[in-house]
Amino acid sequence: MKIVFATNNGHKLAEVAAILGPEWELVTPASLGITEDIPETQSTLEGNALQKARYIYERTGLDCFADDTGLEVTALGGAPGVRSARYAGDHHDFDDNNRLLLHNLEGAADRSARFRTVIALIERGRDHLFEGRVEGRIIDEYRGTEGFGYDPIFIPKGADTTFAEMSPAEKNAISHRARAVERLVEFLNKPNHKP
Ligand code: IMP
Repeated sequence: MKIVFATNNGHKLAEVAAILGPEWELVTPASLGITEDIPETQSTLEGNALQKARYIYERTGLDCFADDTGLEVTALGGAPGVRSARYAGDHHDFDDNNRLLLHNLEGAADRSARFRTVIALIERGRDHLFEGRVEGRIIDEYRGTEGFGYDPIFIPKGADTTFAEMSPAEKNAISHRARAVERLVEFLNKPNHKP
C-alpha cells in the first residue's frame, strides 16, 4: 500500500519506513515531481503538520501525512515550540539555537521540557492527528555527539544521558517522533486500512 510522506528529509524517511514495515511503501513529494519547499507558516505544530499534508494531498489526491516537532520548555512558556528550527533566527544553526536556549534559561529553577511531535494524516480526504511526546529536562552543558538539534542538552525522564549520548536505536525506542509514528501505524494497520 502506498502512502505519501510530505518530507524531503531522508533521515526522517528512513526512520519512519523502519517503523511502518514492508507492507507500506513510502512515496516522497520529490518522486511525484513536487520539488519546491512545502510551506509551513502556521503558529502551531498541529497547524504546520496539517498545512504540509494538505499541500501535498491537494496536488496529488493521494493519502498523505506530514510531521512537525518542537521542544517546549516550561520556564520559557513553551518556547521555542513551533519555532524550534529557527529559534536563534532564520540563518542560524543548531549550535546557535542551543546557546540561546541555555542563555534564556540561566538562573531558572525549573528546567523541565518536552519534545512533542504531531503527525497529520489526510486519509480519503479526512484529517487525523497523532501526537508523541517525551518529557525531560534541559542541562546546562553539552553532552554527546549523536542525533541533532537540541539532543546534546536534553535528558529524557528516567535516563541519565542526553539524547546525543544515546545510539540512534536507543533514542528511537523512546523518542517523540517514534511514539507519534507508532500511533499513525496503529491507525493505518487497522483492518480497514491494511493492504
Ligand atoms: P522538525 O519539525 O522535525 O523539522 O523539527 C523542528 C526542529 O526541532 C528541528 O530543527 C530541531 O531543532 C528540533 N528537533 C526536532 N526533533 C528533534 C530531535 O529529535 N532532537 C533534537 N531536536 C529536535
